[in-house]
Amino acid sequence: MKKVIVINGSPRCNGNTRRMADSVVAGIQAVLSEVDVKRYDLYGLRYSGCRSCFACKAKNGRSYGRCVIDDDLSAVLDQIAEADCLIVASPVYLMDVSGQTRSFVERLCFSLGSYEKGYRSLAKKKMPVVTVYTMNALPEMAPYGAFDNIEYFLGHIFSPPRRVCAFNTYQFCDYTRYVVETFSEPEKACWRDVHFKKDLQSAFDTGKDIACQLREG
Ligand SMILES: Cc1cc2nc3c(=O)[nH]c(=O)nc-3n(C[C@H](O)[C@H](O)[C@H](O)COP(=O)(O)O)c2cc1C
Repeated sequence: MKKVIVINGSPRCNGNTRRMADSVVAGIQAVLSEVDVKRYDLYGLRYSGCRSCFACKAKNGRSYGRCVIDDDLSAVLDQIAEADCLIVASPVYLMDVSGQTRSFVERLCFSLGSYEKGYRSLAKKKMPVVTVYTMNALPEMAPYGAFDNIEYFLGHIFSPPRRVCAFNTYQFCDYTRYVVETFSEPEKACWRDVHFKKDLQSAFDTGKDIACQLREG
């Protein structure tokens, strides 16, 4: 049975980011009837970014290619080592991925990226990766450079990610409770009703494509 790991880098367990990630999973499940899906909400875990101990680079060590930090992320990294597909989803925070997502990617990619010639990847499998980003920004204002950074490393370690985005997301349940002068709630609602549905569909279709790849591979 294929094993899919979903990383939700949003503190909102049922927010836009989680919904988009779930749509990718639904697409995978539409093609593959039996899939082992493990979801991790990063904000429910206690962990740090890389601590620069270099145990993952030590010669002749059992920890070569492995992050030795013992915290809530350890089990997640172990699961990823055995996975067939990885979905990394993050809201955009300050024109980048969220802090927890960034720390997660540091731990994952630094331990599996060697300093051998060509920076050989130490991952067991070149599994497909999907990245999901949700943001307030319109498509023309999205911080694509930040996505390129983490996707470069995920691509090097595993395989170049398929990217799905949701733009101009509906942020608050009730806009009347907050000071919001830069966005119009009716315009946001309109965008959500038209575009967010399409974004969910595109996430679903990406999941289907990935499942076909997994079935053939
Ligand atoms: C701390 C914080 C920083 C944010 N910074 C940005 C930003 O720089 N650009 C942007 O487009 N949206 C930004 N947003 C909006 C969120 O990315 C957007 O609402 C996202 O869809 C939220 O995802 P969620 O529903 O999963 O929490 C920010 C939100 C928060 C809470």
